[in-house]
Amino acid sequence: MPPNTESVEVITEQFEKKLNLKELAHKGRYVIYPTTKYPDYEAFEHVDPGHKGDPAKKALLDPATAVIELTPHIGTEIHGLQLHELNEQQKNDLALLVAERGVVFFRKQEIDVYQGREFGKHFGPLHIHQNFGHPEGMPEVHVIHFDENSNRSHFKTFSHQDGWHSDVTYEINPAGLTFLKLDTLPAVGGDTLWASGYAAYDRLSPPFQKFLEGLEAVHSGLDQSNAALRAGHTVRRTPIETVHPVVRTHPVTGWKSLFVQPGFTRSIVGVSKRESEAILNFLYAHIAGGVDFQVRLKWEENTVAVWDNRSTFHNAVFDYLDVGLRHGWRITPQAEKPYFDPNSKSKADSTVRRYVKEPATEGYNFLL
Ligand code: SIN
Repeated sequence: MPPNTESVEVITEQFEKKLNLKELAHKGRYVIYPTTKYPDYEAFEHVDPGHKGDPAKKALLDPATAVIELTPHIGTEIHGLQLHELNEQQKNDLALLVAERGVVFFRKQEIDVYQGREFGKHFGPLHIHQNFGHPEGMPEVHVIHFDENSNRSHFKTFSHQDGWHSDVTYEINPAGLTFLKLDTLPAVGGDTLWASGYAAYDRLSPPFQKFLEGLEAVHSGLDQSNAALRAGHTVRRTPIETVHPVVRTHPVTGWKSLFVQPGFTRSIVGVSKRESEAILNFLYAHIAGGVDFQVRLKWEENTVAVWDNRSTFHNAVFDYLDVGLRHGWRITPQAEKPYFDPNSKSKADSTVRRYVKEPATEGYNFLL
């Protein structure tokens, strides 16, 4: 998640009525940085569509041709469905499946950015970023566009250990289900990793879990907004720092997830600076080293990843800037204000349903 704030020459040609982002990306930088200001976000109630999901997810999974669990703790790949064709119940099932599995991948997706925006609205109000550039007329669309012309200063001393994040956690209502479609890829590289916040919590010892459950942490949007100001861009809302619980309860699964990451968490409330740094650095290393609860996606063009920012962290691998263009778009619905319910369970203490439908076999198995 590098600061997407390069000063670039914007293509000024007349846009067609419907933008073809892939075509534009191959011509050059197309995002714009308008001086528009937005009212500050205020807390809102979020009712998650995952509550209406069928525990068996029959509407979603019956028509799929393959449902493949990529690791025990996180990541499922589904074949044979087109996201833009899903009906209401299938979307609700998807919300529940992603809440459980953390991230779900769909290959060969035809969905375009306009359909993506409509699709995203089912899962929550679409987040508008405080400073990132966006396609003309589409402030809710977050563009991924990196190649050999990208600003490399960010990467000179960057360790990908610090690349783990969940999106815009400084917001009062941070992101819930989030969608990214990549339509252009370098010949090699540009993978993305996700880590399970549920399993990250479960891998800690009970006394340390208890200790963390009483804590809150500060999440900050100031690094991003300051980078934007340095680049001469408008910051469209008052930049904020927000306090969220270190362990949050997922409203749909009821499971506890670790909720700190190096991207936006800055300190633990109520402890000394040294203590805060020690706790956070331990947790960041715990996430980065948790190869038993991570999944790594090798993108193909037109893959869509759908992840739950409440219970996962992700890390885009910037190893390809010399290789070629990586381009796509992200839609980021917001969810509830994070909370911790002391009565909630860990995933490890819950019955976890598995979904496996092998390619070219009949039916799928629920292995409890
Ligand atoms: C993101 O951080 O949301 C984008 C991930 C990616 O580019 O793979």
